[in-house]
Amino acid sequence: MPASGAIECLLLRPGGEVALARFFADLEVAGDDVFFHPHAGDVATLRAIAERPGKDLYVVFLEEGNVRAYGLLRGWNEGYDVPSLGVAVHPNVRTCGFGRLMMEYLEAMARYRGAPAIRLRVRKDNVRAIAMYGRRSYVMQPDAGDAQLLVGFKTLGAGA
Ligand SMILES: CC(C)(COP(=O)(O)OP(=O)(O)OC[C@H]1O[C@@H](n2cnc3c(N)ncnc32)[C@H](O)[C@@H]1OP(=O)(O)O)[C@@H](O)C(=O)NCCC(=O)NCCS
Repeated sequence: MPASGAIECLLLRPGGEVALARFFADLEVAGDDVFFHPHAGDVATLRAIAERPGKDLYVVFLEEGNVRAYGLLRGWNEGYDVPSLGVAVHPNVRTCGFGRLMMEYLEAMARYRGAPAIRLRVRKDNVRAIAMYGRRSYVMQPDAGDAQLLVGFKTLGAGA
């Protein structure tokens, strides 16, 4: 049974780092840290991100102070036109559509900001994520830098 059954979508802000660190710890317990490690998940790192996101986007789905999903679009701070996407959903609330919803949100934001495309990287054995990206029309190819990874690319034209 959900804690409150009400989930809101927020940008990661200072003060949100403790809840997000808990989320990262729960991913680790579930063994999902091998699939999702966009950056360190400790409180100090997350506070630094929350305080200085720059143009990059760090987004949480929050239920009563608990992070249910985390998504990011980054690369803009480094000057790239095509941002890199990351997404993870808490192990307790999977297959409800929150992964897809976070993807929708991040893709809409990238489109809104005029990004021509989105890229992402995924482990070849991450069946759930690859299925999700495939349904969302990401074109996957081997990562030249790492044989364990695929790189996904989606063009954000009108209607994409
Ligand atoms: C991948 C992940 C984000 C999916 O989140 P979710 O909320 O369970 O996904 P959704 O319920 O929105 O489902 C979205 C799609 O994922 C796929 N999917 C979800 N659960 C699946 C499962 N158990 N088996 C196979 N595919 C699955 C389906 O393609 C689904 O498509 P549909 O919406 O057309 O049915 C989640 O499993 C997760 O956080 N995994 C660990 C972190 C991770 O791997 N992140 C990606 C790193 S590249």
